[in-house]
Amino acid sequence: DHDYDFVVVSNRLPVDRVTAPDGTPGWTRSPGGLVTALEPVMREKDGAWVGWAGQPDVALDPFDNEGIRIVPVPLTVEEIANYYEGFSNDTLWPLYHDVIAAPSYHREWWESYVAVNQRFADATAAISAQGATVWVQDYQLQLVPKMLREQRPDLTIGFFNHIPFPPYGIYSQLPWRAQIIEGLLGADVIGFQRVADASNFSRAVRRLTTNVTRNPVIEVVTEGQATRRVIAKAFPISIDASSYEELARQPHIQARAQEIREGLGNPKTIMLGVDRLDYTKGIGHRLKAFGELLTEGRVSVEDVTLVQVASPSRERVKAYMDLRDEIELTVGRINGDFATMSHTAISYHHHGYPRDEMVALYLAADVMLVTALRDGMNLVAKEYCAARFDNDGVLIISEFAGASDELKRALRINPHDIDGLKESILQAIQMPKQERATRMRSLRKRVLEYDVSRWSSTFLTTLAQSRAAQDDYA
Ligand code: G6P
Repeated sequence: DHDYDFVVVSNRLPVDRVTAPDGTPGWTRSPGGLVTALEPVMREKDGAWVGWAGQPDVALDPFDNEGIRIVPVPLTVEEIANYYEGFSNDTLWPLYHDVIAAPSYHREWWESYVAVNQRFADATAAISAQGATVWVQDYQLQLVPKMLREQRPDLTIGFFNHIPFPPYGIYSQLPWRAQIIEGLLGADVIGFQRVADASNFSRAVRRLTTNVTRNPVIEVVTEGQATRRVIAKAFPISIDASSYEELARQPHIQARAQEIREGLGNPKTIMLGVDRLDYTKGIGHRLKAFGELLTEGRVSVEDVTLVQVASPSRERVKAYMDLRDEIELTVGRINGDFATMSHTAISYHHHGYPRDEMVALYLAADVMLVTALRDGMNLVAKEYCAARFDNDGVLIISEFAGASDELKRALRINPHDIDGLKESILQAIQMPKQERATRMRSLRKRVLEYDVSRWSSTFLTTLAQSRAAQDDYA
Protein backbone atom coordinates (compact mmCIF):
# COMPACT_ATOMS: atom_id res chain seq x y z
CA ASP A 1 0.00 0.00 0.00
CA HIS A 2 1.30 3.50 -0.75
CA ASP A 3 1.62 6.45 1.59
CA TYR A 4 -1.26 8.87 2.07
CA ASP A 5 -1.18 12.66 2.31
CA PHE A 6 -4.47 12.79 4.22
CA VAL A 7 -5.38 10.28 6.91
CA VAL A 8 -8.42 10.14 9.19
CA VAL A 9 -8.12 8.02 12.33
CA SER A 10 -11.16 6.98 14.37
CA ASN A 11 -12.02 4.07 16.62
CA ARG A 12 -14.77 2.93 14.29
CA LEU A 13 -14.50 2.62 10.53
CA PRO A 14 -17.46 3.87 8.43
CA VAL A 15 -18.33 0.22 7.85
CA ASP A 16 -18.74 -2.62 10.35
CA ARG A 17 -17.76 -6.18 9.58
CA VAL A 18 -20.78 -8.48 10.06
CA THR A 19 -21.17 -12.22 9.80
CA ALA A 20 -24.37 -13.63 8.29
CA PRO A 21 -26.05 -16.60 10.03
CA ASP A 22 -24.50 -18.92 7.40
CA GLY A 23 -21.03 -17.59 8.25
CA THR A 24 -20.43 -15.37 5.21
CA PRO A 25 -18.77 -12.08 6.05
CA GLY A 26 -20.10 -8.72 4.85
CA TRP A 27 -20.12 -5.02 5.77
CA THR A 28 -22.81 -2.66 7.10
CA ARG A 29 -22.80 1.07 7.82
CA SER A 30 -21.53 1.96 11.29
CA PRO A 31 -23.76 3.72 13.85
CA GLY A 32 -23.39 7.22 15.23
CA GLY A 33 -22.83 10.84 14.37
CA LEU A 34 -19.08 10.64 13.77
CA VAL A 35 -19.48 8.41 10.73
CA THR A 36 -22.48 10.42 9.46
CA ALA A 37 -20.34 13.56 9.44
CA LEU A 38 -17.00 12.23 8.21
CA GLU A 39 -18.18 9.93 5.44
CA PRO A 40 -19.02 12.71 2.94
CA VAL A 41 -15.76 14.49 3.83
CA MET A 42 -13.73 11.38 3.05
CA ARG A 43 -15.53 10.76 -0.23
CA GLU A 44 -14.24 14.11 -1.47
CA LYS A 45 -10.65 13.44 -0.52
CA ASP A 46 -8.22 10.85 -1.72
CA GLY A 47 -7.21 9.83 1.76
CA ALA A 48 -7.18 6.77 3.99
CA TRP A 49 -9.39 5.97 6.99
CA VAL A 50 -7.73 4.07 9.82
CA GLY A 51 -10.04 2.33 12.31
CA TRP A 52 -11.51 -0.80 13.87
CA ALA A 53 -13.90 -3.04 11.93
CA GLY A 54 -16.26 -3.60 14.89
CA GLN A 55 -15.48 -7.33 15.38
CA PRO A 56 -12.64 -9.04 17.26
CA ASP A 57 -9.42 -10.04 15.49
CA VAL A 58 -10.21 -8.72 12.03
CA ALA A 59 -6.75 -8.32 10.49
CA LEU A 60 -7.33 -7.32 6.87
CA ASP A 61 -5.20 -5.61 4.28
CA PRO A 62 -6.31 -2.10 3.30
CA PHE A 63 -9.16 -2.11 0.76
CA ASP A 64 -11.57 0.25 -1.00
CA ASN A 65 -15.17 0.62 0.12
CA GLU A 66 -17.40 2.87 -2.00
CA GLY A 67 -14.55 5.20 -2.83
CA ILE A 68 -12.97 5.27 0.62
CA ARG A 69 -9.64 3.61 1.39
CA ILE A 70 -10.12 1.54 4.54
CA VAL A 71 -7.20 0.56 6.81
CA PRO A 72 -8.42 -1.84 9.54
CA VAL A 73 -6.72 -1.95 12.95
CA PRO A 74 -7.40 -5.25 14.76
CA LEU A 75 -8.62 -5.45 18.38
CA THR A 76 -8.65 -8.64 20.46
CA VAL A 77 -11.65 -9.81 22.48
CA GLU A 78 -9.88 -8.61 25.62
CA GLU A 79 -9.13 -5.19 24.14
CA ILE A 80 -12.76 -4.78 23.11
CA ALA A 81 -13.71 -5.44 26.74
CA ASN A 82 -11.02 -3.23 28.31
CA TYR A 83 -10.26 -0.43 25.86
CA TYR A 84 -13.63 -0.08 24.04
CA GLU A 85 -16.42 -1.21 26.38
CA GLY A 86 -14.37 -0.43 29.48
CA PHE A 87 -12.24 2.70 29.35
CA SER A 88 -13.90 4.37 26.34
CA ASN A 89 -17.52 3.65 27.15
CA ASP A 90 -17.68 2.97 30.88
CA THR A 91 -15.07 5.52 32.02
CA LEU A 92 -14.70 8.36 29.50
CA TRP A 93 -18.22 8.38 28.02
CA PRO A 94 -20.09 8.86 31.33
CA LEU A 95 -17.36 11.17 32.70
CA TYR A 96 -17.49 13.45 29.64
CA HIS A 97 -21.32 13.48 29.72
CA ASP A 98 -21.67 15.09 33.16
CA VAL A 99 -21.56 11.74 35.03
CA ILE A 100 -25.20 11.00 34.08
CA ALA A 101 -24.14 7.41 34.76
CA ALA A 102 -21.34 6.70 37.24
CA PRO A 103 -17.95 6.22 35.54
CA SER A 104 -15.87 3.18 36.54
CA TYR A 105 -12.12 3.53 36.99
CA HIS A 106 -9.99 0.44 36.42
CA ARG A 107 -6.24 0.39 35.95
CA GLU A 108 -6.35 -2.59 33.54
CA TRP A 109 -8.75 -0.63 31.32
CA TRP A 110 -6.34 2.30 31.25
CA GLU A 111 -3.43 0.02 30.33
CA SER A 112 -5.43 -1.39 27.46
CA TYR A 113 -6.39 2.16 26.34
CA VAL A 114 -2.69 3.10 26.22
CA ALA A 115 -1.77 -0.06 24.28
CA VAL A 116 -4.57 0.32 21.73
CA ASN A 117 -3.88 4.04 21.23
CA GLN A 118 -0.25 3.09 20.55
CA ARG A 119 -1.38 0.55 17.94
CA PHE A 120 -3.51 3.19 16.18
CA ALA A 121 -0.58 5.63 16.25
CA ASP A 122 1.81 3.01 14.82
CA ALA A 123 -0.62 1.99 12.06
CA THR A 124 -1.10 5.66 11.13
CA ALA A 125 2.63 6.45 11.19
CA ALA A 126 3.21 3.50 8.85
CA ILE A 127 0.90 4.72 6.06
CA SER A 128 1.32 8.52 6.29
CA ALA A 129 3.43 10.25 3.63
CA GLN A 130 6.18 12.70 4.60
CA GLY A 131 4.50 15.93 5.78
CA ALA A 132 1.00 14.39 5.62
CA THR A 133 -2.04 15.76 7.45
CA VAL A 134 -3.53 13.37 10.00
CA TRP A 135 -6.91 14.01 11.58
CA VAL A 136 -7.56 12.01 14.77
CA GLN A 137 -11.18 11.68 15.95
CA ASP A 138 -12.86 11.43 19.32
CA TYR A 139 -12.44 10.35 22.92
CA GLN A 140 -11.35 6.79 22.21
CA LEU A 141 -8.03 8.05 20.76
CA GLN A 142 -6.93 10.99 22.89
CA LEU A 143 -3.37 9.71 23.33
CA VAL A 144 -2.76 9.28 19.60
CA PRO A 145 -1.71 12.90 18.82
CA LYS A 146 1.25 12.76 21.23
CA MET A 147 2.20 9.19 20.29
CA LEU A 148 2.14 10.11 16.62
CA ARG A 149 4.18 13.28 17.07
CA GLU A 150 6.88 11.33 18.92
CA GLN A 151 7.40 9.09 15.89
CA ARG A 152 6.59 11.51 13.13
CA PRO A 153 7.33 15.18 13.91
CA ASP A 154 6.92 15.91 10.18
CA LEU A 155 3.14 15.32 10.34
CA THR A 156 0.49 18.01 10.75
CA ILE A 157 -1.86 16.61 13.40
CA GLY A 158 -5.44 17.66 14.05
CA PHE A 159 -7.77 16.26 16.72
CA PHE A 160 -11.54 16.62 16.93
CA ASN A 161 -13.57 15.68 20.00
CA HIS A 162 -17.12 14.74 18.95
CA ILE A 163 -18.47 14.59 22.50
CA PRO A 164 -18.50 17.26 25.24
CA PHE A 165 -15.39 18.10 27.25
CA PRO A 166 -16.49 18.27 30.91
CA PRO A 167 -15.97 21.07 33.45
CA TYR A 168 -12.78 20.68 35.49
CA GLY A 169 -14.65 19.70 38.66
CA ILE A 170 -15.83 16.57 36.87
CA TYR A 171 -12.81 15.97 34.63
CA SER A 172 -10.49 16.01 37.63
CA GLN A 173 -11.98 12.71 38.87
CA LEU A 174 -10.01 10.91 36.19
CA PRO A 175 -6.91 9.24 37.68
CA TRP A 176 -5.13 9.70 34.32
CA ARG A 177 -6.29 13.27 33.78
CA ALA A 178 -2.80 14.68 33.12
CA GLN A 179 -1.79 11.97 30.63
CA ILE A 180 -4.89 12.61 28.52
CA ILE A 181 -4.25 16.35 28.39
CA GLU A 182 -0.66 15.68 27.35
CA GLY A 183 -1.85 13.22 24.71
CA LEU A 184 -4.18 15.81 23.19
CA LEU A 185 -1.54 18.55 23.28
CA GLY A 186 0.42 16.50 20.74
CA ALA A 187 -1.95 17.95 18.13
CA ASP A 188 -1.52 21.28 16.31
CA VAL A 189 -5.26 22.03 16.46
CA ILE A 190 -7.73 20.53 18.96
CA GLY A 191 -11.34 21.00 17.90
CA PHE A 192 -14.43 20.89 20.11
CA GLN A 193 -18.17 21.11 19.42
CA ARG A 194 -19.04 24.07 21.65
CA VAL A 195 -17.18 27.12 22.92
CA ALA A 196 -17.87 25.81 26.45
CA ASP A 197 -16.06 22.54 25.65
CA ALA A 198 -12.98 24.38 24.38
CA SER A 199 -12.85 26.56 27.50
CA ASN A 200 -13.33 23.54 29.80
CA PHE A 201 -10.34 21.98 28.05
CA SER A 202 -8.22 25.13 28.39
CA ARG A 203 -9.00 25.29 32.08
CA ALA A 204 -7.88 21.66 32.49
CA VAL A 205 -4.66 22.50 30.64
CA ARG A 206 -4.04 25.42 33.06
CA ARG A 207 -4.66 23.21 36.09
CA LEU A 208 -2.72 20.15 35.02
CA THR A 209 0.37 21.26 33.12
CA THR A 210 3.34 23.45 33.95
CA ASN A 211 4.95 23.64 30.51
CA VAL A 212 2.02 25.39 28.82
CA THR A 213 1.36 29.12 28.75
CA ARG A 214 -1.55 30.92 27.17
CA ASN A 215 -1.44 33.42 24.40
CA PRO A 216 -5.12 34.41 23.78
CA VAL A 217 -6.59 31.20 22.25
CA ILE A 218 -3.28 29.50 21.76
CA GLU A 219 -1.61 27.13 24.16
CA VAL A 220 2.16 27.39 23.95
CA VAL A 221 3.83 24.10 24.85
CA THR A 222 7.46 24.13 25.89
CA GLU A 223 9.33 20.92 25.11
CA GLY A 224 12.95 21.28 26.24
CA GLN A 225 14.33 24.31 24.40
CA ALA A 226 11.63 24.34 21.73
CA THR A 227 8.16 25.83 21.89
CA ARG A 228 5.10 24.76 19.96
CA ARG A 229 1.69 26.39 19.44
CA VAL A 230 -1.53 24.47 19.93
CA ILE A 231 -4.92 25.94 19.03
CA ALA A 232 -7.98 24.77 21.03
CA LYS A 233 -11.21 26.05 19.52
CA ALA A 234 -14.86 25.23 18.77
CA PHE A 235 -15.76 23.91 15.30
CA PRO A 236 -19.42 22.77 15.50
CA ILE A 237 -19.88 19.70 13.32
CA SER A 238 -22.71 19.24 10.84
CA ILE A 239 -24.17 17.00 8.14
CA ASP A 240 -24.23 16.82 4.38
CA ALA A 241 -27.43 18.90 4.51
CA SER A 242 -28.24 19.21 0.80
CA SER A 243 -28.15 15.42 0.36
CA TYR A 244 -30.95 15.12 2.96
CA GLU A 245 -32.97 17.78 1.19
CA GLU A 246 -32.46 16.06 -2.18
CA LEU A 247 -33.64 12.76 -0.77
CA ALA A 248 -36.68 14.40 0.81
CA ARG A 249 -37.65 15.95 -2.52
CA GLN A 250 -37.88 12.57 -4.23
CA PRO A 251 -41.49 11.55 -4.92
CA HIS A 252 -41.00 7.97 -3.69
CA ILE A 253 -39.74 9.26 -0.32
CA GLN A 254 -42.76 11.55 0.00
CA ALA A 255 -45.04 8.66 -0.90
CA ARG A 256 -43.33 6.60 1.75
CA ALA A 257 -43.89 9.39 4.33
CA GLN A 258 -47.59 9.30 3.49
CA GLU A 259 -47.59 5.52 3.85
CA ILE A 260 -45.97 5.80 7.29
CA ARG A 261 -48.66 8.24 8.43
CA GLU A 262 -51.40 5.92 7.23
CA GLY A 263 -49.72 2.94 8.82
CA LEU A 264 -49.90 4.75 12.16
CA GLY A 265 -53.65 5.33 11.70
CA ASN A 266 -53.38 8.90 10.40
CA PRO A 267 -53.06 10.64 13.77
CA LYS A 268 -53.24 14.46 13.75
CA THR A 269 -49.74 14.66 15.18
CA ILE A 270 -46.79 12.34 14.82
CA MET A 271 -43.95 13.01 17.24
CA LEU A 272 -40.55 11.46 16.58
CA GLY A 273 -37.47 10.56 18.58
CA VAL A 274 -34.37 9.09 16.90
CA ASP A 275 -31.43 8.12 19.07
CA ARG A 276 -28.84 5.49 19.79
CA LEU A 277 -30.25 3.76 22.86
CA ASP A 278 -28.00 5.76 25.21
CA TYR A 279 -28.62 7.18 28.71
CA THR A 280 -27.35 10.58 27.56
CA LYS A 281 -30.30 11.00 25.18
CA GLY A 282 -33.03 11.61 27.78
CA ILE A 283 -35.41 9.06 26.23
CA GLY A 284 -36.93 8.30 29.63
CA HIS A 285 -37.63 12.01 30.26
CA ARG A 286 -39.43 12.25 26.92
CA LEU A 287 -41.53 9.16 27.71
CA LYS A 288 -42.39 10.53 31.13
CA ALA A 289 -43.63 13.81 29.68
CA PHE A 290 -45.71 12.05 27.01
CA GLY A 291 -47.09 9.52 29.52
CA GLU A 292 -48.22 12.31 31.86
CA LEU A 293 -49.91 14.20 29.02
CA LEU A 294 -51.85 11.03 28.17
CA THR A 295 -52.73 10.35 31.83
CA GLU A 296 -54.00 13.90 32.29
CA GLY A 297 -56.06 13.64 29.11
CA ARG A 298 -54.27 16.63 27.57
CA VAL A 299 -53.46 14.52 24.53
CA SER A 300 -55.12 11.32 23.28
CA VAL A 301 -53.76 8.31 21.39
CA GLU A 302 -56.24 8.98 18.58
CA ASP A 303 -54.60 12.37 18.01
CA VAL A 304 -50.94 11.91 18.91
CA THR A 305 -48.51 9.05 18.29
CA LEU A 306 -44.88 9.01 19.37
CA VAL A 307 -42.50 7.09 17.09
CA GLN A 308 -39.29 6.22 18.92
CA VAL A 309 -36.40 4.78 16.94
CA ALA A 310 -33.80 3.59 19.47
CA SER A 311 -30.92 1.95 17.65
CA PRO A 312 -28.97 -0.70 19.59
CA SER A 313 -25.70 0.54 21.06
CA ARG A 314 -22.88 -0.83 23.27
CA GLU A 315 -25.09 -3.70 24.32
CA ARG A 316 -22.49 -5.44 26.46
CA VAL A 317 -22.02 -2.48 28.79
CA LYS A 318 -24.15 -2.82 31.94
CA ALA A 319 -25.51 0.75 31.98
CA TYR A 320 -26.85 0.20 28.45
CA MET A 321 -28.49 -3.12 29.37
CA ASP A 322 -30.17 -1.45 32.35
CA LEU A 323 -31.30 1.47 30.21
CA ARG A 324 -32.86 -0.86 27.65
CA ASP A 325 -34.82 -2.69 30.35
CA GLU A 326 -36.02 0.59 31.83
CA ILE A 327 -37.09 2.13 28.50
CA GLU A 328 -38.83 -1.01 27.27
CA LEU A 329 -40.68 -1.40 30.56
CA THR A 330 -41.89 2.20 30.31
CA VAL A 331 -42.92 1.88 26.66
CA GLY A 332 -44.80 -1.33 27.49
CA ARG A 333 -46.59 0.32 30.41
CA ILE A 334 -47.65 3.39 28.46
CA ASN A 335 -48.88 1.29 25.55
CA GLY A 336 -50.61 -1.10 27.91
CA ASP A 337 -52.43 1.75 29.62
CA PHE A 338 -53.41 3.81 26.58
CA ALA A 339 -53.35 1.84 23.32
CA THR A 340 -56.66 1.05 21.63
CA MET A 341 -57.34 -1.60 18.97
CA SER A 342 -56.67 0.99 16.27
CA HIS A 343 -54.09 3.34 17.86
CA THR A 344 -50.86 2.76 19.68
CA ALA A 345 -49.32 5.42 21.94
CA ILE A 346 -45.68 4.68 21.18
CA SER A 347 -44.38 2.95 18.08
CA TYR A 348 -41.05 1.65 19.39
CA HIS A 349 -38.24 0.37 17.16
CA HIS A 350 -35.10 -1.19 18.60
CA HIS A 351 -33.13 -1.14 15.36
CA GLY A 352 -31.75 1.38 12.92
CA TYR A 353 -33.20 2.20 9.50
CA PRO A 354 -31.52 3.05 6.21
CA ARG A 355 -31.25 6.72 5.31
CA ASP A 356 -34.19 6.69 2.84
CA GLU A 357 -36.54 5.43 5.51
CA MET A 358 -35.22 7.96 8.04
CA VAL A 359 -35.85 10.85 5.68
CA ALA A 360 -39.41 9.60 5.02
CA LEU A 361 -39.89 9.45 8.78
CA TYR A 362 -38.61 13.04 9.17
CA LEU A 363 -41.15 14.17 6.57
CA ALA A 364 -43.92 12.25 8.31
CA ALA A 365 -43.10 13.72 11.74
CA ASP A 366 -44.87 16.91 12.84
CA VAL A 367 -42.74 17.26 15.95
CA MET A 368 -39.14 16.16 16.43
CA LEU A 369 -38.07 15.55 20.04
CA VAL A 370 -34.40 15.95 21.00
CA THR A 371 -34.30 15.77 24.80
CA ALA A 372 -30.64 14.90 25.44
CA LEU A 373 -29.33 15.37 28.99
CA ARG A 374 -25.93 16.03 27.43
CA ASP A 375 -24.90 15.65 23.79
CA GLY A 376 -21.81 16.86 21.94
CA MET A 377 -23.83 18.07 18.95
CA ASN A 378 -26.85 15.86 18.01
CA LEU A 379 -26.92 15.53 14.24
CA VAL A 380 -30.44 14.09 14.18
CA ALA A 381 -31.73 17.60 14.96
CA LYS A 382 -29.89 18.93 11.90
CA GLU A 383 -31.05 16.04 9.70
CA TYR A 384 -34.67 16.80 10.56
CA CYS A 385 -34.32 20.45 9.54
CA ALA A 386 -32.39 19.58 6.36
CA ALA A 387 -35.13 17.17 5.28
CA ARG A 388 -38.01 19.66 5.83
CA PHE A 389 -37.83 21.44 2.47
CA ASP A 390 -41.58 22.03 2.90
CA ASN A 391 -40.76 24.45 5.78
CA ASP A 392 -42.97 22.51 8.14
CA GLY A 393 -42.42 20.53 11.32
CA VAL A 394 -41.45 21.71 14.82
CA LEU A 395 -38.11 20.92 16.44
CA ILE A 396 -37.94 20.65 20.22
CA ILE A 397 -34.34 20.67 21.41
CA SER A 398 -32.58 20.37 24.73
CA GLU A 399 -30.27 23.18 25.72
CA PHE A 400 -27.79 20.47 26.72
CA ALA A 401 -27.28 19.40 23.10
CA GLY A 402 -24.54 21.26 21.21
CA ALA A 403 -26.90 21.83 18.29
CA SER A 404 -29.02 24.19 20.44
CA ASP A 405 -26.28 26.84 20.13
CA GLU A 406 -27.03 27.12 16.41
CA LEU A 407 -30.70 26.14 16.12
CA LYS A 408 -32.07 29.25 17.73
CA ARG A 409 -35.63 29.13 16.39
CA ALA A 410 -36.31 25.65 17.76
CA LEU A 411 -38.36 25.26 20.94
CA ARG A 412 -35.63 25.09 23.55
CA ILE A 413 -36.20 22.90 26.61
CA ASN A 414 -34.59 21.71 29.82
CA PRO A 415 -35.34 17.95 29.77
CA HIS A 416 -35.14 17.76 33.58
CA ASP A 417 -38.09 20.16 33.80
CA ILE A 418 -40.87 17.71 32.92
CA ASP A 419 -43.62 20.35 33.23
CA GLY A 420 -41.71 22.67 30.91
CA LEU A 421 -41.19 19.82 28.45
CA LYS A 422 -44.93 19.02 28.51
CA GLU A 423 -45.79 22.67 27.83
CA SER A 424 -43.38 22.73 24.89
CA ILE A 425 -44.87 19.55 23.46
CA LEU A 426 -48.36 21.10 23.65
CA GLN A 427 -47.05 24.32 22.12
CA ALA A 428 -45.52 22.33 19.26
CA ILE A 429 -48.71 20.34 18.66
CA GLN A 430 -50.82 23.51 18.59
CA MET A 431 -48.42 25.79 16.74
CA PRO A 432 -50.05 27.61 13.79
CA LYS A 433 -48.75 26.72 10.34
CA GLN A 434 -47.44 30.23 9.76
CA GLU A 435 -45.24 30.14 12.86
CA ARG A 436 -43.98 26.65 12.01
CA ALA A 437 -42.92 27.90 8.59
CA THR A 438 -41.13 30.98 9.93
CA ARG A 439 -39.21 28.95 12.45
CA MET A 440 -38.32 26.11 10.10
CA ARG A 441 -37.15 28.50 7.38
CA SER A 442 -34.69 30.05 9.81
CA LEU A 443 -33.49 26.66 11.10
CA ARG A 444 -32.97 25.38 7.57
CA LYS A 445 -31.01 28.42 6.54
CA ARG A 446 -28.51 27.77 9.29
CA VAL A 447 -28.26 24.01 8.66
CA LEU A 448 -27.84 24.33 4.89
CA GLU A 449 -25.27 27.10 5.19
CA TYR A 450 -23.09 25.61 7.93
CA ASP A 451 -22.93 22.11 6.54
CA VAL A 452 -20.31 19.43 7.04
CA SER A 453 -18.10 20.54 4.18
CA ARG A 454 -17.91 23.95 5.77
CA TRP A 455 -17.01 22.31 9.09
CA SER A 456 -14.19 20.23 7.63
CA SER A 457 -12.81 23.01 5.47
CA THR A 458 -12.81 25.45 8.40
CA PHE A 459 -11.01 22.93 10.58
CA LEU A 460 -8.51 21.89 7.93
CA THR A 461 -7.75 25.49 6.93
CA THR A 462 -7.06 26.35 10.57
CA LEU A 463 -4.84 23.28 10.76
CA ALA A 464 -2.86 24.19 7.63
CA GLN A 465 -2.43 27.79 8.81
CA SER A 466 -1.36 26.71 12.27
CA ARG A 467 1.31 24.53 10.73
CA ALA A 468 2.57 27.39 8.57
CA ALA A 469 2.59 29.73 11.59
CA GLN A 470 4.37 27.02 13.57
CA ASP A 471 7.25 27.07 11.16
CA ASP A 472 7.45 30.89 11.55
CA TYR A 473 7.26 30.58 15.30
CA ALA A 474 10.02 27.99 15.62
C1 G6P B 1 -20.87 8.75 19.16
C2 G6P B 1 -19.36 8.87 19.29
C3 G6P B 1 -18.66 8.09 18.18
C4 G6P B 1 -19.18 6.67 18.13
C5 G6P B 1 -20.70 6.64 18.00
C6 G6P B 1 -21.28 5.22 18.01
O1 G6P B 1 -21.31 9.42 18.02
O2 G6P B 1 -18.97 10.23 19.26
O3 G6P B 1 -17.27 8.07 18.40
O4 G6P B 1 -18.60 5.95 17.07
O5 G6P B 1 -21.26 7.38 19.08
O6 G6P B 1 -20.85 4.54 19.15
P1 G6P B 1 -20.00 3.21 19.04
O7 G6P B 1 -19.53 2.91 20.42
O8 G6P B 1 -20.95 2.18 18.51
O9 G6P B 1 -18.87 3.44 18.08
